[in-house]
Amino acid sequence: MTLAIYPGSFDPITNGHLDVLERALNIFDRVNLAVANNMEKDAFLSLEEREELVKKVTSSRPQVEVASFDGLLVDFARSQGASVIIRGLRAVSDFEYEFQMSMMNKRLAGDIEMIYMMTGPDHSFVSSSTVKEVARLGGDISSVVPPAVKEELEKKYN
Ligand code: COA
Repeated sequence: MTLAIYPGSFDPITNGHLDVLERALNIFDRVNLAVANNMEKDAFLSLEEREELVKKVTSSRPQVEVASFDGLLVDFARSQGASVIIRGLRAVSDFEYEFQMSMMNKRLAGDIEMIYMMTGPDHSFVSSSTVKEVARLGGDISSVVPPAVKEELEKKYN
């Protein structure tokens, strides 16, 4: 059985993340989504809210598990028995950050492989920040996030 970890802040999870997840499920038997308690980022949604939303929007997928984690991603991957970490790449602008992260993860854990999937063209412009900004300003986000996320963001911003 091949297990992959798909980590992120997921603040909130978007259709772009779900597109990467769906395609990863065509390759791996199981995918565990790992919601980071990311101290580097000042999250809008709490860790519990982000994890809850990720659980809700992936609940129809029995091959997916969701957990949150603190500390190093490679340690979390090891604790789950995973040797593959997936990340989405949207544009050249993502590359430098992802490249650095993959090099450092490789240095920390040479046995863990990072696999990058190109985000689908319909989602390459989507980011959690733009989704939050549009929702805050009353715009329609229904084409870029799942209904549960739309509902939660609208509730928060109203
Ligand atoms: N579709 C749409 N948006 C996407 C996307 C896709 N396929 N892939 C990434 N994004 C966007 C997100 O919306 C988000 O947008 P934002 O910057 O506006 O918030 C941004 O890209 C990245 O967010 P996300 O995918 O949630 O991941 P992240 O970069 O916040 O997560 C971790 C980074 C958690 C993987 C990383 O910080 C980590 O590993 N932390 C653990 C600590 C550690 O091990 N550190 C050492 C690493 S070298």
